[in-house]
Amino acid sequence: MKKILVIHGPNLNLLGQREPAVYGKVSLRQINAALKKIAHNRKVNLTIKQSNHEGKIVDLITKGRNIYAGLLINPAGYTHTSVAIRDAIAASGIPTVEVHLSNIYSREEFRQKSLISPVAKAAILGFGPKSYTLGLEALIDLI
Ligand code: DQA
Repeated sequence: MKKILVIHGPNLNLLGQREPAVYGKVSLRQINAALKKIAHNRKVNLTIKQSNHEGKIVDLITKGRNIYAGLLINPAGYTHTSVAIRDAIAASGIPTVEVHLSNIYSREEFRQKSLISPVAKAAILGFGPKSYTLGLEALIDLI
C-alpha cells in the first residue's frame, strides 16, 4: 500500500472556530475524516500531522523522504514565508500537492505569493475543505 503524508500547518488546528467567514465552519477533524474515507476507498495509507512549528514540519518532510510516495500539504502561514519548508520539499523529492482553503490570490497582497508552489507538482485552492479532498484524489492519481 502506498503511503501518503498529510501536513496541516500552523493554526489549522483551530479550523471551524478560526475566522469562520474566511475558513468556514468545518473542523480539522471533519476534514481528516473525509481524507481517511478517500484513502480507504483508494487503498492508500495516510499519515496525518498538524504542527504549528516550522522545524517540526521540515523534519516530517525530510525524514519522510524514503517512506512516503506523496505529500499533501497546507503550509498555512508558512506558505508565504518558509524557504526552509520549500527546501525540505525540494530535498525530499516527494511529489507534493499544495492545498489552501481560501484563494490566496484574491486576498491580502502578502498572501499572494507562495514559496511552496514552485516545488509542488500542483496547487488546489479556494474550494474550502474540498481543496483537500480534490488534492488527495489528484495526488493519488499522480503517484
Ligand atoms: C491558508 C491561507 C494562508 O494564507 C493562511 O495563513 C492560512 C490558511 C488557507 O488554507 O487558505 O493559515 O493556507
